[in-house]
Amino acid sequence: MFIKQFRYSRDNLGYLVFSDTQGIAIDAGNPGDIFDFARGQGVSIKYVTNTHFHHDHTGGNTVLLEKTNARFIDCRRVMENRVITLDGEKIEIIPTPGHTEDSVCFKAGDFLVTGDTLFNGTVGNCFSGDLSSFFISLKKLLAFPGETKIYSGHDYVQESMKEAASLEVDNPDIEAYLQKYEPGLVVSTLADELLVNPYIRFNAPGMISLLEKRKMPFKTEEQRFISIMEIY
Ligand SMILES: [Fe+2]
Repeated sequence: MFIKQFRYSRDNLGYLVFSDTQGIAIDAGNPGDIFDFARGQGVSIKYVTNTHFHHDHTGGNTVLLEKTNARFIDCRRVMENRVITLDGEKIEIIPTPGHTEDSVCFKAGDFLVTGDTLFNGTVGNCFSGDLSSFFISLKKLLAFPGETKIYSGHDYVQESMKEAASLEVDNPDIEAYLQKYEPGLVVSTLADELLVNPYIRFNAPGMISLLEKRKMPFKTEEQRFISIMEIY
């Protein structure tokens, strides 16, 4: 399974996930580019879908659906893990409520498409208000192998590393992470994220002692996640 990233607007990232002859467009904010790329690859776009129903992610759906014979998969109706196939290869749609109630992530090959649930360097705002569900969703993603690549819905790398450095001043991995940053292809691995992304570092000893010093709840993983979310 392959993935191609498409940058649009200021910092949005959309994707075509594809096999030899079939593809799924995820958050097709620049439908013309995705259409042209798919055609150039000899890939027919079988599905159009979204990581969640925010306008900056769904804005290209109509155009792409009109230009192709693709079927629309409505992420708002994916209640449990759903598998779709492209040329017999699997893509799993994983419900990950938190940023919004309808947020989903996609797992294929060795990568995840994470929308506004998990960014490279940070996580989404909890607009659903349900931090417990957000925590469970992130734990689902963290259960994948460390080498799993993360393709997210926005490029917030530079601002999120500033935030991370303000919290964990002595974290040497932040500089290394920034060295690898490339605006033309924004990607990291889960292992990279565990080294720098404050919101999933709820088991990092430095983060735990920081919460303790700040007299914030830190006894359980979920308490620590919620405490870190409350710092900002
Ligand atoms: Fe969003």
